[in-house]
Amino acid sequence: MAHQSNLARVNSTFLPSLVLMPLFSKPIAAKRALTEANLSISDINGIAFTRGPGIGCCLAASLNAAKTLAAVHSLPVVGVHHMQAHALTALLTTPTHTPSGEINSSYPIFPYLTLLVSGGHTQIVLAKSLTSFRILATTVDESIGRAFDKVSRKLKIEWAGMSPGSALEKFCLLPEESVYPEGYIPFTSPMPRRLAFSYAAFHSHVDRILESVGGIEKLTTANKLAIARAFQRAAFEHLEKKLDLVLEQCAQQDIKVGHLVIGGGVASNMFLRERLEKCLADTPTGEVIKAVFPPAQFCTDNAAMIGWASMHRFLAGDHDDYSINPRSKWSI
Ligand code: KG4
Ligand code: ZN
Repeated sequence: MAHQSNLARVNSTFLPSLVLMPLFSKPIAAKRALTEANLSISDINGIAFTRGPGIGCCLAASLNAAKTLAAVHSLPVVGVHHMQAHALTALLTTPTHTPSGEINSSYPIFPYLTLLVSGGHTQIVLAKSLTSFRILATTVDESIGRAFDKVSRKLKIEWAGMSPGSALEKFCLLPEESVYPEGYIPFTSPMPRRLAFSYAAFHSHVDRILESVGGIEKLTTANKLAIARAFQRAAFEHLEKKLDLVLEQCAQQDIKVGHLVIGGGVASNMFLRERLEKCLADTPTGEVIKAVFPPAQFCTDNAAMIGWASMHRFLAGDHDDYSINPRSKWSI
């Protein structure tokens, strides 16, 4: 499998490298990761960490841990762009060849489009190489992930151990029928002809519905299901409309792409996967474009994608200086 062959290639030349994610600020996690991988720090050749974009204090925690560990053990560091890592994950997780040895048509070839749907971003980006990216569409206000989080909380949907977004997806899968509350107003897709996303209107729309019915406690589970399902559908329709506009623009500018890589936490949503497959089966320009989804656990934030995105630099003998700083705002 290509996924294995990628890993084997990296293993034979560089691995192991240690990856520090912004969420842990204590070396306990690094120790545990090494123990679980049956490695010790002396087996490590370099340390990769998320440099940005993101919340300053979280970035600083992992950057300081990475620099300290690296300095103590005389190791090189590489600071990774979080969204580039999401955009490149599919190159790690998609096999280059089929089990019978043929080239896998799903393996993304540059230039490819990438739809980045996370808690901080909603973007369609043209990935031209491992290091060159062009934003084709971005959000004017909030991200789709944040809209999922807010709507999920407003509807008081909770599932132990799950992000609000994945809890909303799970809730929508309950077997009960949807029943729209009295006076329900349908969602609409903002800025129909503009090549930009807007998700703030989606959760304010839920506020309006809740106000008009007299509060969340007035809703039955069937009512909440109707709203959650309508929101999820409308949020994904908005993505599809912008994707169509991007494909039209690519055709006008003679940019040929064969793959759409989907990344970021919202890409783990199975309903989105199903819808995008259908959408790409019938593109406005008639282009044949394959949707490529990394496995769900590699769509939400994970250390493997940061390690993978750092690898070409380590392999080229390139790395950052210990004076490197975090960048909470950092365009792809
Ligand atoms: O990429 P990610 O793990 O972290 C950021 O870089 O932001 O994305 C997290 C976002 C959260 O808003 C979370 O609620 C959303 O992804 N999310 C989902 C699903 N799983 C995670 N949204 C919709 N459906 C899901 N299954
Ligand atoms: Zn992310």
